[in-house]
Amino acid sequence: MPSPAGPIVVGMEKKSKLVIIVGSVREGRFGPVVASWVAEQARTHGGFEVEVVDLAGIDIPLALPAQSPKYAGEAYPRPAGMAPLTSALAGADAFLVVTPEYNHSYPASLKAAVDWHFTQWTAKPVGFVSYGGAAGGRHAVLHLENVLTELHAVTIRDGLAFPNYFTAWQDGRPLDPEAAGYAKTLLDQLAWWADALRAARAAVPYPA
Ligand SMILES: Cc1cc2nc3c(=O)[nH]c(=O)nc-3n(C[C@H](O)[C@H](O)[C@H](O)COP(=O)(O)O)c2cc1C
Repeated sequence: MPSPAGPIVVGMEKKSKLVIIVGSVREGRFGPVVASWVAEQARTHGGFEVEVVDLAGIDIPLALPAQSPKYAGEAYPRPAGMAPLTSALAGADAFLVVTPEYNHSYPASLKAAVDWHFTQWTAKPVGFVSYGGAAGGRHAVLHLENVLTELHAVTIRDGLAFPNYFTAWQDGRPLDPEAAGYAKTLLDQLAWWADALRAARAAVPYPA
């Protein structure tokens, strides 16, 4: 029996669940190469239970229902083919969004996936892994940070950006020997937020 005056230890019986989202659905896309390497880094890190969700396999219509997902809750009428995405988002404690840059922003597939949901993102941390030309997808990430803040998600400052990915990757891996170290820093921060916000959500409902 612990002493009433002893320290309060908040134990995490289960690892936080990390959902890695493959944001591009384009024919011939590079996204799955990046996501696969990121998933390997996350599994090696060991702080998470890892799931990869590829938007290319999900039914995500552009036409939304009349009401907002923010207020509709479970009753929001999503297509049956969206269920794997919705349940992955709902069960996640943290996200890593893998995104390319299209016309200085992120792909429409990712925006549609975000807009079909709301509460599934709330009070959860989101990290970013981007790739593209000279800017390494940074324009896409800046826009995503702005959008996800609206859903009360917590975006992580340190991200991974891969400029000129077409010369910076070989055989499914980045050539930069520092990349795995940068990924570990991001994953350490994401795990800290995931555990902290999971405990907070369990203790007190988020006042959204
Ligand atoms: C419609 C479109 C717009 C693009 N615009 C940009 C851009 O603004 N900046 C950039 O760095 N790369 C841009 N690119 C190049 C992409 O970064 C590159 O094609 C990358 O492979 C896209 O990721 P994906 O293969 O996973 O779809 C664009 C590509 C497409 C298809």
